[in-house]
Amino acid sequence: MHIEVKAGEILTVETGLAVLGVWEGEDLPAVAQGLMEAEDFTGAFKKFALLYPRNEKKRSVAARRLLLAGLGKREHFSVDRLRQIGALIGRRARDLGQKTFATELLGQDVLDAFTAARALAEGVQLGLYRFEVYKTRKESDQPGVEVESVAILVRSDSEEAARRAVELAEAEMAGVKLARDLGNEPPLVATPTMLAEVAQEIAQRHGMTVAVFNREQMEELGMGGILNVSRGSAEPPKFIILEHGSKQPGVPTVVLVGKGITFDTGGISIKPAADMDKMKMDMMGGGAVLGAMEVVGRLKLPMHVVGIVPASENTPSGTAYKPGDIIRAMNGVTIEVLNTDAEGRLVLADGLAYAQRYEPDAIIDLATLTGACVVALGNHAAGMMGNSSELAERVKRAAQATGERVWELPLWDEYKNQIKSDIADIKNVGGRNAGAITGGAFLSHFVGTYPWVHLDIAGVAWTEDQPKPYTPKDATGFGVRLLTELLRTWDQERS
Ligand code: BES
Ligand code: MN
Ligand code: ZN
Repeated sequence: MHIEVKAGEILTVETGLAVLGVWEGEDLPAVAQGLMEAEDFTGAFKKFALLYPRNEKKRSVAARRLLLAGLGKREHFSVDRLRQIGALIGRRARDLGQKTFATELLGQDVLDAFTAARALAEGVQLGLYRFEVYKTRKESDQPGVEVESVAILVRSDSEEAARRAVELAEAEMAGVKLARDLGNEPPLVATPTMLAEVAQEIAQRHGMTVAVFNREQMEELGMGGILNVSRGSAEPPKFIILEHGSKQPGVPTVVLVGKGITFDTGGISIKPAADMDKMKMDMMGGGAVLGAMEVVGRLKLPMHVVGIVPASENTPSGTAYKPGDIIRAMNGVTIEVLNTDAEGRLVLADGLAYAQRYEPDAIIDLATLTGACVVALGNHAAGMMGNSSELAERVKRAAQATGERVWELPLWDEYKNQIKSDIADIKNVGGRNAGAITGGAFLSHFVGTYPWVHLDIAGVAWTEDQPKPYTPKDATGFGVRLLTELLRTWDQERS
């Protein structure tokens, strides 16, 4: 799907569908007043009215259909509201069988043109996503059901900014789509080997360096975390490293680490059957990292960015690791495994330890790490922990700008006590209390003194009840836009 920016007046565009915004509690646009008797459309947020302008000789509206989009009250408006409206508009156009439609730049009297165009373009694209690789009768094969192009009509002095914004949104969407697709693919297909292949494709597209370690190479490096988690599985584990740019003085180095468990059965500490299928998406931390690398490559960011994905299955078998095992991560820390279902932190231990090799300015890990984080924050924010308030502030700003919300949880020493082991350095579970935090406390043992933020995305990596119109059911791609915004604005003045 392509979005183009045009300078001009929405009402003069010859199109099947034109979209006009309406503020709640304010006068309807003059053209709508003449067209509409009904009093039931007030411009309330997420409400729409579809009008068919009369086919007169001298029409005031060139479009065949006019969609009034309720923007809500002006004082309640936000970038995220616009993103949501964008998603609803795109889907409404698709439902109406419109291959193409035009919209004015909604929100342009409240937001700057760049911000408005970006949110609108993001919303439309994120909302139109669907995964139908395995549908033998695809919706998108039905004639006239896929939206192919969208025109955003802007004032001529906004054209340049809006065009840059749309370009950015399209790059972001490529990364989000990559991540969502990986999550939605069945575990049969989205294996560690497949993640490695996708990383290789990204590297090829954008001239990045890629390395994929197999079991033997991991053994040489002493990666006891990922190696032991993968012991039960017939799928070979892959330790994936994707590198954009190189280490240079004055160029920031940021390492992204994503949990890449392509299916989490729990292992010997096996999970209940209900909803276990969702654990095909236990690689969405890794998916977000790969998606972000795709965007970084498209935007050619002037930075050194390393994406690391320790990828493995977690399954029970005669060769699987067991509760009671003591294992040694790459940095030498010994771990008593008390629950094989706390596997994410074990593969991340090696991922984070490896990240230190780059002497980075920041390490950010993303992981569907704990059910406890879902209990704490639901589906509305990732849990954030770390050792650097400066880096945490950067992440919060990127979260605010993208609507991919984070909420900080404390990593006090008292929590770290919960994972002390009697017979090893640490244990991989810390009891029922503060489960999300003890997960973070565990990871803190593997980052050295480098600035680090951990994002527990267990509650936001996929959705069942679609909390926002721009996050369709299943894999959301959470983190791709957050990470790219963080990187894109790394050197910008704080406002
Ligand atoms: N992948 C799960 C966490 C998860 C659960 C993500 C539900 C999304 C939804 C993780 O590997 C896990 O099993 N964590 C355990 C940790 C516990 C054993 C300390 C959990 O949350 O129960
Ligand atoms: Mn698990
Ligand atoms: Zn897991």
